[in-house]
Amino acid sequence: MSKQYDILIKNIGQLLTMDDHNGPVKGKAMSTLTVYENMAIAIKDGVIAWIGSNEEASSLSAINTMDAKGKLVSPGLVEPHTHLVFGGSREHEMALKQQGVPYLEILKRGGGILSTVGATKQASEDELKEKAMFHLNRLMSYGITTVEAKSGYGLDAETELKQLRVAKSVNQIHPIEVVSTFLGAHAIPAEYKGKSDEFLEEMLSLLDTIQEEELAEFVDIFCETGVFSVEQSRQFLQKAKAKGFDVKIHADEIDPLGGTELAAELGAVSGDHLVGASDDGIRKLAESNTIAVLLPGTSFYLNKGKFARAREMIEKGVAVAISTDFNPGSSPTENLQFIMSLAALQLKMTPEEIWYAVTTNAAHAINRGHSAGKIVEGLKADVVIWDAPNYAYIPYHYGVNHVNTVIKAGRIVYEGRPTYDKTSIH
Ligand code: NIG
Ligand code: FE
Repeated sequence: MSKQYDILIKNIGQLLTMDDHNGPVKGKAMSTLTVYENMAIAIKDGVIAWIGSNEEASSLSAINTMDAKGKLVSPGLVEPHTHLVFGGSREHEMALKQQGVPYLEILKRGGGILSTVGATKQASEDELKEKAMFHLNRLMSYGITTVEAKSGYGLDAETELKQLRVAKSVNQIHPIEVVSTFLGAHAIPAEYKGKSDEFLEEMLSLLDTIQEEELAEFVDIFCETGVFSVEQSRQFLQKAKAKGFDVKIHADEIDPLGGTELAAELGAVSGDHLVGASDDGIRKLAESNTIAVLLPGTSFYLNKGKFARAREMIEKGVAVAISTDFNPGSSPTENLQFIMSLAALQLKMTPEEIWYAVTTNAAHAINRGHSAGKIVEGLKADVVIWDAPNYAYIPYHYGVNHVNTVIKAGRIVYEGRPTYDKTSIH
């Protein structure tokens, strides 16, 4: 008797497997993408068990046979930079933004990140968990199956650990894989004003507990005017590396301080934002293995008219990923598809480059390059069936959700369709 698969997806018009490269895809290599047409894939026990032509698939049998109707199928998207766990929201800052009060000025006045810190301190672990689950569901609805999540709205031992424990527990109960980052160095709390070195020591003292409880894989810092300097970031991240953590940097987001150069110098897994990256920073990134995680949604939302220089980065040989930067302040959105449109319109990235940026390179930016962001026989089946005729269609038709079905580790976890009963209308 022939093998019985769990799921067989037939009639795939375009299949992106994203498995042409073993490592991150750098520079001009991002412009060529293999597209397989008229394909089918079969899933068994949570993994991709078979990939072949639609014709060959007619001899296969499965418990659940799905018809992709000639449309696009891709790996589950990888979201490499979010601030997933937080209390409250910041819609009240919209009026300040409209009056032209800059982001860093709002922070200086005790708002911004510090306002979310207050709300996160007040929230219980259960409340934070429920809220994180809500946002994970929404991220999943947009086709995302792997998410990085940062702490950084505690800025004290208790609340930072609370956030990290929430991230760990939602990883255990939600289908999405959550990869955790410690961002205790996200802002200077009021009680440490003028004593930022002491504050960084306090945050470093948490690393042992974080390691013992396996609460985070990465350590990150906000290297920015009025927050942490390049030298403070260098010392902080060097100490985290010496403890065995891989590191990331919020670098050159608003002011061009030289965080991009630092990311390359330290061999950070990723340098994130890089809006103000210098020519030298870009050259150093290209020579390094550090992934540039660009966050055009943040540039859009901060509305300063300045976007990261993705074209120069790609032309010089940098591996670029993109992300929502989902957070309650500078980028309140879970819609990575909208970010793909911004990458096309504002970063001038091609559809091919954009697909590498939300799969292969995003996965490498969180050390998941060998397990996520691709469709390969034997790998866990993270698959999206899209209501789109081809891969260029997603960045083109902007602001909406094109997902038809999301499969995570072989399980159907989201089906985006209306549920009304036609007979009951009118
Ligand atoms: O990536 N810049 C620092 N951190 C976040 C924003 C966090 C917030 O505003 O709450 C960012 O933009
Ligand atoms: Fe961020």
